[in-house]
Amino acid sequence: MSKTIIISNRLPVQLQISDGGLSAIPSVGGLATGMKSVHSGSESLWIGWSGLTDEDIPDGLSETIDSALKQHGCSKVKLTKDDVDGFYFGFSNRTVWPLFHYFLEYSEFELDFWNSYKAVNQKFADAILEEAGDDDIIWVHDYQLMLVPQMVKEKRPNATIGFFLHIPFPSYEIFRTLPWREEVLEGLLGADLIGFHTYDYERHFLSSVRRLLGLDVSFNDIYLENRVIKVDSFPMGIDYNKFHEAAKKSSALKGKQRSDLQIKLDEHKKSAPDTKLIVSIDRLDYSKGIAKRINAFEYFLNKYPEYKEKVRLIILAVPSRSNVPQYMLLKREIDELVGRINGELSTVNWTPIWYFYRSLPFENLIDLYTSSDIAWLTPLRDGMNLVAKEYVATRTDKTGVLILSEMAGSAYEMNEALLINPNNFEEQADTLKQAITMPKEEQMARNMFLQNRLKRYNVEVWANEFMNSLKSQKQGIGTYVSQ
Ligand code: ADP
Ligand code: G6P
Repeated sequence: MSKTIIISNRLPVQLQISDGGLSAIPSVGGLATGMKSVHSGSESLWIGWSGLTDEDIPDGLSETIDSALKQHGCSKVKLTKDDVDGFYFGFSNRTVWPLFHYFLEYSEFELDFWNSYKAVNQKFADAILEEAGDDDIIWVHDYQLMLVPQMVKEKRPNATIGFFLHIPFPSYEIFRTLPWREEVLEGLLGADLIGFHTYDYERHFLSSVRRLLGLDVSFNDIYLENRVIKVDSFPMGIDYNKFHEAAKKSSALKGKQRSDLQIKLDEHKKSAPDTKLIVSIDRLDYSKGIAKRINAFEYFLNKYPEYKEKVRLIILAVPSRSNVPQYMLLKREIDELVGRINGELSTVNWTPIWYFYRSLPFENLIDLYTSSDIAWLTPLRDGMNLVAKEYVATRTDKTGVLILSEMAGSAYEMNEALLINPNNFEEQADTLKQAITMPKEEQMARNMFLQNRLKRYNVEVWANEFMNSLKSQKQGIGTYVSQ
């Protein structure tokens, strides 16, 4: 029986070694949470990095690690510390990530990073070649592995290979600044189907292919000498039922069954029933616009001082890529901003911002979503933003307001949210006021549309559409109709 081989840098679990031995924690990020829901141990194998380098693994533990990963349907690619420094912290997160998110000034063009990226992509390709049978479908994910499709295709010309990019593909004017732009495009073109979250990313990619490689592009097909590659958009959904049901279950819990966080949030609601809770949840990343959001919150409180003591902003930021200098600087900036604003505005009864810098277990994430009157998500640039979709899915009584940046891929499908430009403080202050005062009926009407769409186009449908399109493309049927 043929199986699907999923391949990404990040596996759905991260392994850690501590005094207590080996442990596995769930990975954070849209790719891992989304794909986890479509990965089934018997029909797919997920190949990726365990989170440990060769140097972290004591003698004799390698087999234990293999069997721990096997329980999750995963298999590891072995990476050294140098690999991780050059490929992951280097080219992936100091070159590609900033460039593709339009932070050109943060993007570093280092030959050593590029060489490491090539070498590590080859390691991933070799791992696929070792595992994949002739009938298997190979699905490569994200910007860390853009050379892998071509590396596999070279050795297995008949392999069925799909590639999905979880981040934006930038406009040609940005992409062309990359010194290794042709190699990256050629790497991707090893795939039979290349998927993006939105039509705009797809269009940018096709334009780069045409202008940099001079290839023949017709609609969303790219013609090579001996084959045709299809490019299409597939906006990623969430596991709607998982979030919706978890929210129902959490609201039904009573007394001691409730989590500590839930109890604290309940107490807060009782002691200050008129105070609105605004939540924002992201990885601590400059693309998420967290610092700007805090500044915009201060602007709002100054413009509408009547809301002092009547709103609270909860910021949950999960530590991410903390070896990369820009992330360290951002952490410091946010610490200082929160400290300054709380210092200046707090009263005996009120702290304007609650700031948590940590990853939270799934149940607590649900508690935060369900307890918040407003979700305020302000990425300056974001491939999709699944948090926006998760918030809406957990609103079981259909109340709650989503304020979402128009720079997020998810904004294309979430028109009923209050869409804002994260650089416009005036607009955001007015939108926060609109959200705080929005009648329940209007909240429910907006969320009804949003929920219906999220339910229909969930992550399973997303994966099936991608897979069906890939299979049709490979069989030369090409019957897929873009939605
Ligand atoms: P990105 O992929 O850029 O991190 P997304 O919004 O698409 O952004 O996905 C983030 C995922 O990580 C979501 O599924 C969200 O539930 C999860 N997540 C974000 N912050 C936390 C946190 N502090 N603790 C646990 N999970 C988190
Ligand atoms: C985004 C990327 C993923 C990545 C995730 C978390 O969602 O698209 O590829 O896994 O962020 O980042 P990390 O660097 O921790 O894997």
